[in-house]
Amino acid sequence: MRRKVGSLVKAPVVLGIESSCDETGAGLVRGGRLLGHALASSMDEHARFGGVVPEIAARAHVQALTPVVRQALAEAGLGMRDIGAVAVTTGPGLSGALQVGLAGAKALAYALGVPLYGVHHLAGHVAADTLVHGPLPEPCMVLIVSGGHTSLLLVRDLARDPVLHLGDTLDDAAGECFDKAARLFGLPYPGGPAIDRAARGGDPRAVPFPRPLTGPCDDPNAFSFSGLKTAAARWAERYRARGEELPLGDGAASLQEAVADVLTRKAVAACREHGAGTLVVVGGVAANSRVRALAEKRCGAAGITLRVPPLGLCTDNGAMIAAVGDLLVRSGAEPAPLDVSVDPSAPLEYAALHPVARTGTRAA
Ligand code: KG4
Ligand code: ZN
Repeated sequence: MRRKVGSLVKAPVVLGIESSCDETGAGLVRGGRLLGHALASSMDEHARFGGVVPEIAARAHVQALTPVVRQALAEAGLGMRDIGAVAVTTGPGLSGALQVGLAGAKALAYALGVPLYGVHHLAGHVAADTLVHGPLPEPCMVLIVSGGHTSLLLVRDLARDPVLHLGDTLDDAAGECFDKAARLFGLPYPGGPAIDRAARGGDPRAVPFPRPLTGPCDDPNAFSFSGLKTAAARWAERYRARGEELPLGDGAASLQEAVADVLTRKAVAACREHGAGTLVVVGGVAANSRVRALAEKRCGAAGITLRVPPLGLCTDNGAMIAAVGDLLVRSGAEPAPLDVSVDPSAPLEYAALHPVARTGTRAA
């Protein structure tokens, strides 16, 4: 039986803050409805290093946090006093970056006298979809594909029930594979969108890249992308050794096809295995045009409903954290204590993530 979340009439406006990587996000959600959100990114500052530099990201969050909160409030036509609860990403992510968002969230919650909720970043990606497509059916299969994660999750009531983690990547995440391969191909950071663009004119069957962990004896829910990255490196080296220009379109399209094939094949098989009638694909790589198209085709053929959030809610943002906070508030979840800490490598067990602060003092 579907449990009801609390009355929408009494639901407070929840401010969500996201700062786990290079995006500073603030969002406002009330009763499952997105009222406004704003985003600042330090992506350009990391581009010349080919990846996110944690110290640069943390400093950028310090600069961006107050402006994005103000901008989200302005977009929603609300003021500080309208905020009834604050939700913030407490992990996983870059430690320094998480600390900035958490410090800001604690200050706001304390000053406004409202409850604070720590949120698991990946639960945020899942909840992002509810802002456009409504409550999740129970159970549903979720494929999270981002720069740091590639996971298959069986989700029931996101605010109350534990998330069943079916499988993860054993090495690189799908987005990481795109980012690293793009660098090898001489494309800019972040690599995912660059590969997506380069693939437009290419032949997806031109290069026979491997489909890792898709054999009959392999774990059906596990992923592995580092071998694919190495195969992309060898492919590029062969052309460079001969002094020839890379057929970039073909390489990008073939790599994208291999990633999309593995992701969607495993996600649809997991739906069948667990009797889930809905697949939700979230995270930055859900923005990939081939992943979206192949997921649509394969879900359609298998009679599975596919839900993918719009592009702006696929990548990191504050609205998704506010969405989790809103679900937690309406389910009557316990708020976090004000000495809650961050957990940079927290596995996803529950949507609420309230790690206890370590003081460094030890009993004699
Ligand atoms: O979810 P996200 O914004 O941040 C993390 O939590 O990691 O995901 C970022 C990842 C990056 O690896 C980026 O290259 C990838 O998502 N990405 C894409 C596309 N847009 C973003 N990958 C493939 N195709 C895209 N269109
Ligand atoms: Zn993310």
